Amino acid sequence: MKKSTSTSNNILFFIHPHIFLLLLLLLLCQWWSFASAAAAAPSSQGGSWNVLLSDIGISAMHMQLLNNDRVVMFDRTDFGMSNISLPDGKCRYDQNDTTLKVDCTAHSVEYNVASNSIRPLMVQTDVWCSSGSVFPDGSLVQTGGFNDGDKVVRVYKPCSNSTTNSTCDWEEIQGGLIQRRWYSTNHILPDGRQIIIGGRRAFNYEFYPKSASANNSYSLPFLVKTNDPNKIENNLYPFVFLNVDGNLFIFANNRAILFDYMKNVVLKNYPEIPGGDPRNYPSTGSAILLPLKNLQAQEIQAEVLVCGGAPKGSYTSALNGNFSGALSTCGRITITDPNPQWIMETMPLARTMGDMVILPNGNVLIINGAATGTAGWECGRDPVLKPVIYRPDNPFDSRFEIQNPSTIPRMYHSTAVLLRDGRVLVGGSNPHIYYNFTGVFFPTELSLEAFSPPYLDSVSEYLRPQITSPASQHAIGYGQRVPIRFKVAGRVDINLVTVTMVAPGFNTHSFTMNQRLLVLVSENVKLIGKNAYQINVVTPNNAKLAPPGYYLLFVVHQDIPSEGIWVKIQ
Ligand SMILES: *[C@@H]1O[C@H](CO)[C@@H](O)[C@H](O)[C@H]1NC(C)=O
Ligand SMILES: *[C@@H]1O[C@H](CO)[C@@H](O)[C@H](O)[C@H]1NC(C)=O
Ligand SMILES: *[C@@H]1O[C@H](CO)[C@@H](O)[C@H](O)[C@H]1NC(C)=O
Ligand SMILES: *[C@@H]1O[C@H](CO)[C@@H](O)[C@H](O)[C@H]1NC(C)=O
Ligand SMILES: *[C@@H]1O[C@H](CO)[C@@H](O)[C@H](O)[C@H]1NC(C)=O
Ligand SMILES: *[C@@H]1O[C@H](CO)[C@@H](O)[C@H](O)[C@H]1NC(C)=O
Ligand SMILES: *[C@@H]1O[C@H](CO)[C@@H](O)[C@H](O)[C@H]1NC(C)=O
Repeated sequence: MKKSTSTSNNILFFIHPHIFLLLLLLLLCQWWSFASAAAAAPSSQGGSWNVLLSDIGISAMHMQLLNNDRVVMFDRTDFGMSNISLPDGKCRYDQNDTTLKVDCTAHSVEYNVASNSIRPLMVQTDVWCSSGSVFPDGSLVQTGGFNDGDKVVRVYKPCSNSTTNSTCDWEEIQGGLIQRRWYSTNHILPDGRQIIIGGRRAFNYEFYPKSASANNSYSLPFLVKTNDPNKIENNLYPFVFLNVDGNLFIFANNRAILFDYMKNVVLKNYPEIPGGDPRNYPSTGSAILLPLKNLQAQEIQAEVLVCGGAPKGSYTSALNGNFSGALSTCGRITITDPNPQWIMETMPLARTMGDMVILPNGNVLIINGAATGTAGWECGRDPVLKPVIYRPDNPFDSRFEIQNPSTIPRMYHSTAVLLRDGRVLVGGSNPHIYYNFTGVFFPTELSLEAFSPPYLDSVSEYLRPQITSPASQHAIGYGQRVPIRFKVAGRVDINLVTVTMVAPGFNTHSFTMNQRLLVLVSENVKLIGKNAYQINVVTPNNAKLAPPGYYLLFVVHQDIPSEGIWVKIQ
């Protein structure tokens, strides 16, 4: 068992009237995690881990990869002093901040993948438990947060050379939102706006930017219906996906609707997920839109996979020191089906607070999280250190494969995003109300790690495609034929080459907003020179399939992806 048994001794040094209850809770927690220890898992298969930076100064609670290969990260302004100073001697003076009125430390950073370095950024208002989407021009538009930040919209424009340009930073738009948005979910729309759905005590949605005809918030009774009567809102950070018909699939708690956001009409009620247990915050599971394929078909299918979470009542139990075992089931549903039904599968490892990351080859990485408890301060135990890869196209019962473990627990407030080179960047984890590095279960994590899936093993190097054209940052249109040229050192099986396009998403609280992978329609691979090949692909036909903006394009050979190139579809 990988538990912080050693910390129990330290706890005695912390006795203080304020934390007496906490002490009791921690002791209880330990007893219960012992009682709920899971059976030994099957042996690990592959993948490797590297610590990239041991201290980025903040705990990466929210992450977004931008088209300049920088990852913007932030935690919250009311965590107290972080471990990195604001640039140029700046300080934030905020009489409304609940923790520090003057804070000269940063709560946002920009990570440069190529140089493996970070640069502090400045947020003025509280971004805690907020949400976001990248706009078609490549800027990150982040919305809401807590306290003085709950109606603020913040824009971060990627700069061509932010290494030398420290003026490149967040811009804040006060009153950008109509409702307070805390634990909301955003999605980019085919017209380039974003929709912002739900949040704590916000049973409605709105759009950003506003227009004369959409300058309001619109009610969404589904969020009232899925709000637990005992006020444990197991419907926060709802799982939202843009369906191929342009409507939104919205999953909250244990069920979903297909929603026409233009007309404010529920088009379809999906059946409750079997078992009926909640999958959203704080019973946090995760969900993903599976790869969209056959994009020229008359009727394109879309499937959603929802995995893990915590049984009903787990949050209240965890607050009382009773950490329930996480859910081990996933539900898979074809959301475009006239008579959609959930098909249940069992993960080899039960998990709450896991992240689901779509890999360039269309497989799904399930990573981070815990085997007992829930999201929320001090509410999780038993970190699940082993990621699992789910292969959606394998036969039922042979889809999950356990990967090699990390050594760093990634509990509540941890993150994971795909990078252009195929690695998965992992950060965060802070289940404490402030930064706490000693004497607590799962100290605040300031480190960044990369998980390299097995396709990055050097033994596969001779099979790995390398894209030679177009160049990165290429602009493409809809329904356009585009030749892609690539090299492969070893022998190419021309029947096993695909081209995929991935929309990098906004990751926080175990859900990645806007994450999307499209398998492009392609012609046969042609040999055009020594080890050189061309494959002609057709870009997606419309913005319902692929909202405008930046995507990573990969050539995949025998499940081994190339490095991606950035393409901009418009
Ligand atoms: C915070 O920064 C200091 C100096 O930069 C470093 O020595 C320390 O280890 C850091 N703390 C953590 C928890 O990483
Ligand atoms: C603090 O909050 C009040 C009330 O919401 C607001 O009027 C004021 O501008 C805020 N001050 C700062 C420094 O944010
Ligand atoms: C950005 O500036 C740095 C430092 O001057 C330089 O080394 C680097 O080549 C520049 N990058 C680009 C893309 O211009
Ligand atoms: C620095 O960044 C700012 C903000 O993005 C931009 O307006 C300005 O042109 C940049 N300056 C240089 C020298 O690149
Ligand atoms: C939306 O309404 C507000 C308040 O009435 C107004 O100030 C703003 O100009 C409107 N925005 C648009 C884009 O119409
Ligand atoms: C702990 O919680 C589980 C379900 O959440 C419940 O079945 C069990 O009885 C609880 N145990 C105690 C000691 O309260
Ligand atoms: C974390 O640290 C803060 C400040 O040192 C302290 O007030 C708080 O009680 C700690 N939290 C836990 C869970 O130990």
